[in-house]
Amino acid sequence: MPIETWFPLAIYYDDLPDASEHQQALLDAVMQLEHQGAEPRNYPEMAWTGDLHGVEQIHTHPAFSWIVKQVELHVATYLQEVGVDLSKVDLYIQRAWPIISRPDQGVGAHCHNTAHVSAVYYIKVPTGEMSDPGSLVFFNDARVNEVSPGLGSENTDIVDADNYLNQLDTAYAPVEGRLIIFPAKQRHAVTMNETDEVRVSLSFDIVLTATGKAAGAYEFLTPPPNQWRKFFA
Ligand SMILES: [Fe+2]
Repeated sequence: MPIETWFPLAIYYDDLPDASEHQQALLDAVMQLEHQGAEPRNYPEMAWTGDLHGVEQIHTHPAFSWIVKQVELHVATYLQEVGVDLSKVDLYIQRAWPIISRPDQGVGAHCHNTAHVSAVYYIKVPTGEMSDPGSLVFFNDARVNEVSPGLGSENTDIVDADNYLNQLDTAYAPVEGRLIIFPAKQRHAVTMNETDEVRVSLSFDIVLTATGKAAGAYEFLTPPPNQWRKFFA
């Protein structure tokens, strides 16, 4: 008696072959930007994230040109794999920022609500078999097999056996030089860095807009920004 499964979430990753030769320059650039950024706004248990500290445009910063190019190439591949016709869209990096997670810091659950595709790149990951540098956790909010909503939740935990049909989350351990790409709407978090070293990563938000002659004719694709009119311009 088979049970078939459908509608998989597509998480892409690749280990960039040139990562090690760019690591130190990226690390130096991130640390310098943190130093120059706004006064810390993060709670002690929250990682330092550039988007909250005025450091959210690294895609325009020359020190990040290599990884920006990699993000462009790999996001294009990811979108082709999920069936997007790249000739019909323009792709933009809308926002990009570093994350510095010091010991006992993590990132709470969130979605990247202003974007369509998100990417994360790991510049530096503490190693050590006994300690956990923190993982990227994706949450299964769709819960397509949860026949009575909330069955697996904290206060109604009557799910007898955890298995792949009722899985509520999945975790990706960070790997230096790895690029991960996922739908920006997929809720996720980063668990606590339990090592005594810093973990440093970059986050990218990508937006799709229509392009070409029919650009304004798609019901659910944002028209190109050059067709917009700013109020009171
Ligand atoms: Fe995120």
